[in-house]
Amino acid sequence: MAVALAVTALSGAALAGENYSRKGADTCFQCHDDQATLAVFRTKHAVPGDSNSPFGHGQLQCEACHGPGGDHAGRVRRGRERPPIPAFGFNSTTAVEDQNAYCTNCHLGDTGFAWHGSTHDDNTVACADCHTIHAERDPVLSTSTQAEVCFDCHRQQRTQSMKPYAHPLRHGKMDCTSCHSPHGDTTERLLARSTVNGTCHDCHAEMRGPFLWEHAPVAEDCLSCHDPHGSNQPGMLSMRAPMLCQSCHSQAGHPSIPQDERGLPGDTPSALMLGQSCLNCHDQVHGSNHPSGSKLMR
Ligand code: HEC
Ligand code: HEC
Ligand code: HEC
Ligand code: HEC
Ligand code: HEC
Ligand code: HEC
Ligand code: HEC
Ligand code: HEC
Ligand code: HEC
Ligand code: HEC
Repeated sequence: MAVALAVTALSGAALAGENYSRKGADTCFQCHDDQATLAVFRTKHAVPGDSNSPFGHGQLQCEACHGPGGDHAGRVRRGRERPPIPAFGFNSTTAVEDQNAYCTNCHLGDTGFAWHGSTHDDNTVACADCHTIHAERDPVLSTSTQAEVCFDCHRQQRTQSMKPYAHPLRHGKMDCTSCHSPHGDTTERLLARSTVNGTCHDCHAEMRGPFLWEHAPVAEDCLSCHDPHGSNQPGMLSMRAPMLCQSCHSQAGHPSIPQDERGLPGDTPSALMLGQSCLNCHDQVHGSNHPSGSKLMR
């Protein structure tokens, strides 16, 4: 068998009870020695010196993840079907709970206390729906490829991230886990921090303040004005000004008339409607530290 690593024989203790194959991986190689399968030997799962690894001393090797394969690997009479072995992936008929149990046997600590009962767990998402094991690089673990894995299920976020103004997710320069904890968290929407604003402040610290003159919605929730996954409006705004501002502020003080009585853009009305609109004057929309910035104008 031309395999990169010498595999240790399974210990007798591991074989007790369930019907595991006699020779571990060597049994499986009789039929599964294609490059795709062998790629697992180029990952952290195949470190013989690591006693916690599936290929560590006394571990069950392939069957640490795939479950007991003695029947599956055994001799099959002519005309009979080969008994199945627990399988992973989107087409698997193995219950997701059972698939995940093989992984959490070793990884409960890494996925954290929050996995059980998290949105993904509740919606029977399998560890293997996000993680690729038989590959030198697991795409979900690198920033440049992660979003594509998530987009497989999250089409709406894919569409949003393709909009002209978006965080650079589609370019692989930022990942979903900049803002989300995929394994679950005590927060809403699996956010990485306990609040939306706390999550944004990780990178946009300058919006945290404190400001001498705060703009109430900014301190409360960035999403009053921004779509975090992308938008058609510059600045990733959920609406353009003046509509954005007027979704909260009355028009009474600043009537939004596009033209003056001559049919031309007048001074004040045009400033209200054109270009930066309200931001022509109120350009410190996130808050002001100027002594006379109470109207967010400086
Ligand atoms: C004697 C040949 C043979 C041996 C030995 C063998 N397999 Fe298989 N295995 C097969 C065949 C044939 C299939 C395809 C079965 C099918 O499509 O129904 C298969 C399918 C699989 C699948 C895919 C299951 C699925 O439903 O997609 C996995 C995983 C698997 N084997 C793992 C193992 C492991 C782990 C071992 C060692 C414990 C092993 N096999 C030993 C012949 C073998
Ligand atoms: C750390 C867990 C783990 C170990 C160890 C492992 N596998 Fe897998 N295997 C998986 C997962 C998860 C999949 C689903 C596809 C993927 O993630 O790459 C899979 C898929 C497969 C498939 C099906 C591929 C297909 O076409 O769908 C075969 C066959 C297989 N493994 C055989 C083996 C053999 C043989 C070994 C030992 C040399 C082994 N696996 C070791 C987790 C593991
Ligand atoms: C027998 C124990 C064992 C089993 C079963 C197991 N793993 Fe692992 N896994 C490990 C060890 C050990 C490492 C290496 C940890 C390290 O080096 O920090 C690891 C590493 C990983 C990593 C990080 C890989 C990297 O490149 O950083 C992921 C992701 C992972 N496992 C997912 C899974 C999934 C999904 C399953 C189930 C299909 C699974 N594991 C089954 C022991 C196991
Ligand atoms: C929704 C997708 C998703 C699911 C489902 C998922 N993971 Fe992960 N996992 C990730 C991502 C993304 C990372 C990288 C973590 C990061 O960037 O913060 C990761 C990281 C890991 C790591 C490496 C941790 C480290 O600190 O190096 C392990 C181990 C792991 N996952 C195991 C599992 C196991 C076991 C399950 C199932 C119980 C699982 N994952 C389910 C997406 C997922
Ligand atoms: C196999 C499909 C699948 C994959 C892959 C997947 N998810 Fe999910 N995710 C779901 C399902 C199902 C839900 C629950 C229903 C919904 O909100 O769409 C969900 C919900 C979420 C939620 C909302 C949580 C809440 O409490 O409302 C977030 C955030 C999320 N996923 C992030 C991610 C990230 C980040 C990745 C990639 C690392 C990812 N998902 C990969 C299926 C998936
Ligand atoms: C810049 C931070 C950020 C990034 C990056 C990000 N998200 Fe989100 N996401 C959020 C926030 C904030 C919410 C909460 C929205 C709310 O409460 O209305 C959210 C909500 C979600 C939801 C739940 C949507 C709903 O309407 O219930 C899903 C699913 C989701 N994100 C998936 C993803 C995926 C997949 C990626 C990567 C492609 C991603 N997110 C990247 C910040 C982010
Ligand atoms: C991991 C770091 C990170 C986090 C967390 C983050 N951002 Fe960003 N944000 C960026 C980067 C990088 C850019 C610049 C993108 C570019 O230049 O294309 C950006 C740009 C923006 C922009 C300007 C977009 C434009 O078109 O000018 C807005 C608005 C924004 N982020 C809002 C948010 C909000 C709201 C949150 C919290 C839900 C958040 N960000 C969380 C990194 C982050
Ligand atoms: C009241 C509406 C509103 C709220 C709430 C808001 N923003 Fe903004 N934000 C804007 C507007 C309007 C712009 C466009 C400014 C411009 O074009 O000069 C903008 C632009 C940005 C930009 C890109 C331009 C720059 O100044 O760097 C970032 C980043 C940003 N906001 C982050 C945030 C964060 C983080 C929060 C929450 C702490 C937040 N915003 C809350 C209205 C808001
Ligand atoms: C989600 C609702 C909301 C949105 C959207 C919003 N604001 Fe505000 N704004 C407020 C609240 C609440 C206050 C605080 C009012 C108070 O303290 O009396 C405020 C205060 C102000 C003030 C100071 C008013 C004063 O009397 O001192 C200005 C100026 C202002 N906003 C301009 C804007 C502009 C310009 C936009 C659009 C870019 C905008 N706001 C969008 C809710 C909003
Ligand atoms: C041409 C400059 C200019 C433009 C454009 C402008 N404002 Fe003002 N705004 C002002 C001035 C000056 C004040 C202060 C008036 C005062 O102190 O009596 C003010 C005051 C306010 C106040 C405080 C409440 C009040 O009536 O005194 C709010 C809220 C406000 N503006 C919202 C808006 C919104 C929303 C828009 C866009 C539709 C907008 N402004 C466009 C100059 C402007």
